[in-house]
Amino acid sequence: MLDKNAPIGVMDAGLGGYTVVKELQQLLPQEDIIFYGDGKNQPYGNRSEEEILHLTRQCLDFLKAKGVKIVAVACNTISTLIDRYQPEYDFRIFSIVKAGSDDAIGMNLEQVGILSTMFTAKSGCYDRLIHQKRPDMAVYPQGCPMLARIIEDGGFDQERINEELKKTLGCLAAAHPDLDALILGCTHFPMIRENIQRLYPQFTRFINPAATQARQMTEYLKENGGINPNGGGTFRVYTTSNCKFYADMTRHVGLKDPVSVELVPAPQPLNR
Ligand code: DGL
Repeated sequence: MLDKNAPIGVMDAGLGGYTVVKELQQLLPQEDIIFYGDGKNQPYGNRSEEEILHLTRQCLDFLKAKGVKIVAVACNTISTLIDRYQPEYDFRIFSIVKAGSDDAIGMNLEQVGILSTMFTAKSGCYDRLIHQKRPDMAVYPQGCPMLARIIEDGGFDQERINEELKKTLGCLAAAHPDLDALILGCTHFPMIRENIQRLYPQFTRFINPAATQARQMTEYLKENGGINPNGGGTFRVYTTSNCKFYADMTRHVGLKDPVSVELVPAPQPLNR
């Protein structure tokens, strides 16, 4: 049984997950939200499966200790492994890769590109989920080793962002100039959508899975009597890296003012 009054948890390897918080705050303004961003160990997308799982369990344990009723994994990289950790928790966890795949399936696309971290691209997770329902859709993943990290470093260094986009999205655009849509398959990337549009105006349709993930969570809460009827809509941020940056970025993304932004110990990486 869901505790209606409990908060919703949102987690990411970094602050890209703010793009999901924004959608949740619009759809469910009365819900209390706890955000956990592990900026210290980011990028997860260049790590091994074993390392990502080890870090992820610590992030989820943090949210569990806060008593969350459901969790959005607002990170594509971590979502690719949801089947490995969901059975270990008694609250429902929502994958943003599932949301993005559902978006692509629901549109009348012949070819779709996916811009993501390296791990998400190599996992083949989007391809698998899309092909379960649309085996005929051509799916072209493109990994970006450094883009999420550059955004996480702050300052939105235009030169570095554009350089990295040319090295990665440039290859995809050259090989597949006729894509019907591009999935922004890393939650940091909706923050640089304008850079993408300026450099590659041939891409006109974008899929930002955040809205669908928030909608799927809302439906689940409604179906399971989990909507908080009289919550205050509070927003609390926990970061493992830089409080000032995480606070500033709430305004940049257009989120409600957080009640608090707190520095917490980072998950411990695996000893090697
Ligand atoms: N925001 C994360 C994602 O959606 C990327 C974080 C990272 O691995 O650097 O995949």
